[in-house]
Amino acid sequence: MNIGIPKESLAGEARVAATPDVVRRWVAQGFEVLVAAGAGAAAHYPDSQYAEAGARIADQAEALGAEIVCKVRRPTTEEVAAMAAGAVYLGFVESCGEDEIVAAMLAREIHVFALERMPRISRAQSMDALSSQSNIAGYRAVIEAAARFGRFFPLMMTSAGSSKPARVVVLGAGVAGLQAIATARRLGAEVRAYDIRPETREQIQSLGAKPIDLDIGESGSGEGGYARELSAEAKARQQQLLADELAKAHVIVTTAMIPCRPAPVLVTEETVQRMRPGSVIVDLAAAGGGNCPLTERDRVVERHGVILVGHTNFPALVATDASAFYAKNLANLLALMVEKGEGGLAFKDFSADEITQATLIPAT
Ligand SMILES: NC(=O)c1ccc[n+]([C@@H]2O[C@H](COP(=O)([O-])OP(=O)(O)OC[C@H]3O[C@@H](n4cnc5c(N)ncnc54)[C@H](O)[C@@H]3O)[C@@H](O)[C@H]2O)c1
Repeated sequence: MNIGIPKESLAGEARVAATPDVVRRWVAQGFEVLVAAGAGAAAHYPDSQYAEAGARIADQAEALGAEIVCKVRRPTTEEVAAMAAGAVYLGFVESCGEDEIVAAMLAREIHVFALERMPRISRAQSMDALSSQSNIAGYRAVIEAAARFGRFFPLMMTSAGSSKPARVVVLGAGVAGLQAIATARRLGAEVRAYDIRPETREQIQSLGAKPIDLDIGESGSGEGGYARELSAEAKARQQQLLADELAKAHVIVTTAMIPCRPAPVLVTEETVQRMRPGSVIVDLAAAGGGNCPLTERDRVVERHGVILVGHTNFPALVATDASAFYAKNLANLLALMVEKGEGGLAFKDFSADEITQATLIPAT
C-alpha cells in the first residue's frame, strides 16, 4: 500500500502533510511512501531527510496518484483529476454545503476523510488537526501583535524610564484563544478574555487572565463543545457591553468563529475609533469575514490609527512545528484505518469505528 505526499499548491501554504519522522513510522508499518520533490522544503524538511527516513522522492503526479493521498489543504480541481479512482484522501476539505471538488472526488469513488469533521471525543484528540493548528494560530497571533505593537508587552523598569504592561483582550476562549491568553501572559501582558460559553470562565482564570463577564441574556454553548450563533438582540447587547472594555485595550486578539457561518462582529468600527493610536487587532476570524468589519483578509491595514492584521494562515508561519503536529494527527488517524493481514496491509471497515465514520464524507 502506498502513501503520496504532494507539495501543497495553495499560495503561502508552507506546511506539508508528512515529516521525515512520520515517514519513518509509516515505512516501519509496511507502507511505501512517495514524497513529491520539494514537498517539505518550505517547512524546512529537505528531500534528503525524507529519503533517509525511507521515502522515495517522486514527482507531483506520482504522489497525487498514490493509493492514499495525504494533504494539508483542500485539493484543487487539477489535483483531484490527478488522483486515482478509488483512492483514499486524508486532509482538510474545508467544505460547507454544496461543493464541486467534493462531488468530483465522490464521483471517482475517492474516499474523502475530512479532518475538520473529527469528533470531539477524548480518543480522537491525538487526531484533531483543527485543534493542533488552532493552538499554533493562537500562539502566532500574539507574536504577530507583539511584533507590530510599538510598546512593550511586559512591565519594564529601566534607567531610562518604565513602561506599564500591555493590556490584551482575547475574544473567544476556545483552543486558539486559550493559547493566545497563555502566550500573552508569558510575554508579561495583562490579559482579559471573553467567551459566550460560560464554562470558559475557569479556564481563562487558570491561565492568569481575568474573565470579562457580560450579561447578554443567553448562553452561547452549542452542541459538541462548539458555540452556537446568538440571537440578533444578544449580539447587539454583546457589542455594546464589550465596547468599553475593548476601547481600553492595546491589543485585541479575536478568535470567535462558528463553523460554516459568517464570523460574529465583536469589534465595531466605532470601538476601533475609540482605541488608542498604535493599538493592534489580530483577527483570527478573518477567513469567515472577520470579528471586526475593518479587517481585510490576508492584509495588514491601518484604520483610525489602529493596525488590523487579517492573516488567514497563521499555522503556515510556524510551518515546521505546524507540519509536525499535523503529520502526527494524520498518522494517528491512518493507524486506525488499516490493519496488517496475511496479505499485507489492508483497510478496515470504515463504518466500524466512530472516528473513521465521522470523518468520511458520505458518498451520497
Ligand atoms: N477532542 C475534544 O474534546 C475537543 C477538541 C477541540 C476542541 N474542544 C473544545 O471545544 C470548545 C471550542 O473550541 P474551538 O477552539 O474549536 O472553538 P471555535 O474555533 O469554534 O471558536 C472559538 C471560540 O469562540 C467562541 N465564540 C463563538 N462566538 C462567540 C461570540 N459571539 N463571542 C465570544 N466568543 C464566541 C467559542 O465559544 C469558542 O470558544 C473548547 O472548549 C475546546 O476545548 C474539545
